Amino acid sequence: MTKITISLIKADVGGYPGHSSVHPALIETAESKLENAKKSGALIDFKVMACGDDLELLMSHINGCDCGDIHALAWSTFEAATEKAKELKLYGAGQDLLADAFSGNIRGMGPGVAEMEITERKSEPIVAFMMDKTEPGAFNLPIFRMFADPFNTAGLIIDPACHGGFTFEVWDIMEHRKVMMNCPEEMYDLLALIGAKSRYVIKRVFSKPGCSISDKEPVATISTEKLYQTAGTYVGKDDPAGLVRCQSGLPALGEVLEPFALGHLVSGWMRGSHNGPLMPCSFDTAHPTRFDGPPRVIAAGFQMAKGKFVGPVDLFKDPAFDRARQRCLEITDYLRAHGPFEPHRLPMEDMEYTTLPHVMKTLANRFEKAE
Ligand code: 13P
Ligand code: 13P
Ligand code: MG
Ligand code: MG
Repeated sequence: MTKITISLIKADVGGYPGHSSVHPALIETAESKLENAKKSGALIDFKVMACGDDLELLMSHINGCDCGDIHALAWSTFEAATEKAKELKLYGAGQDLLADAFSGNIRGMGPGVAEMEITERKSEPIVAFMMDKTEPGAFNLPIFRMFADPFNTAGLIIDPACHGGFTFEVWDIMEHRKVMMNCPEEMYDLLALIGAKSRYVIKRVFSKPGCSISDKEPVATISTEKLYQTAGTYVGKDDPAGLVRCQSGLPALGEVLEPFALGHLVSGWMRGSHNGPLMPCSFDTAHPTRFDGPPRVIAAGFQMAKGKFVGPVDLFKDPAFDRARQRCLEITDYLRAHGPFEPHRLPMEDMEYTTLPHVMKTLANRFEKAE
């Protein structure tokens, strides 16, 4: 059976206004580029979406992960959208396109990439998560809870196909190395790493041997690109995206969404330099404006049918997430009252931009030895 590759590739190519949303003209530009690719047979299907100021390209094809042609298509689509953004003088036009020209693989060039090659099941429910004003480590807590926490996922206890647990691929994004860890056996070690979410990030989750899904295929994948490492300086936050398969030996759709009812604290709000609650919201409210936030997550639900995306359903539109949103707003008031103080503001070493070197230079001659 032909495998299907699902590629979710995203970039901020200009905000409207500021960093709050994507202008409809950018979405139209991307749709027309991808429609041409679909007509030519390069893509089976696609959806163009947006979360905050991030333009999200969801594509299906048969070329596998890291396919040069698909990455080139995404790059040229972002370039076309950048042209449009420049014409409209949108904010930070081309912000995430860090290279002058495409060089074979879009990873490391600015955009975020979440891809997986799958054997489409008899029924293949899938969720595309897209976040704004945060970083890849924002996925650690919810992905852990979906695939390893029995208080979140009842299936880990009561579904024999889930009962063996899952394998997590964790990347150390500072040292560029990775490790595979099994749950539940190594749960405490896994948590020791992924609790440090600015450094250790879950990249993929796999089924274990014996599960109904091939253990060679990922069941979840997350973009882990860190922009500042690519650019060497602050250029905007690495707003991440991820894909999660559901049901039949995997967490049910509702178990996949449940972790987002917490509104957990993530970093990346205002100038990439503040902590805030991750607010689950509907597509049409994913426009962060209060202090450029609070950070957002949207969830687009699909059934795959021979590579076609049947959907999306706007999953966080459910009023059952209203209380989570309400709590995020209360946390927002509380954190905002801290102004420039940690832990609302990130610690110095995690800040995306800082005036500290400048302040220290001005004060250099005035510092005296303390007793
Ligand atoms: P169904 O019995 O409707 O398939 O639901 C199973 C399930 O996973 C619900 O959480
Ligand atoms: P983005 O990373 O979404 O572009 O936001 C940057 C920022 O500094 C918002 O305050
Ligand atoms: Mg932006
Ligand atoms: Mg953004």
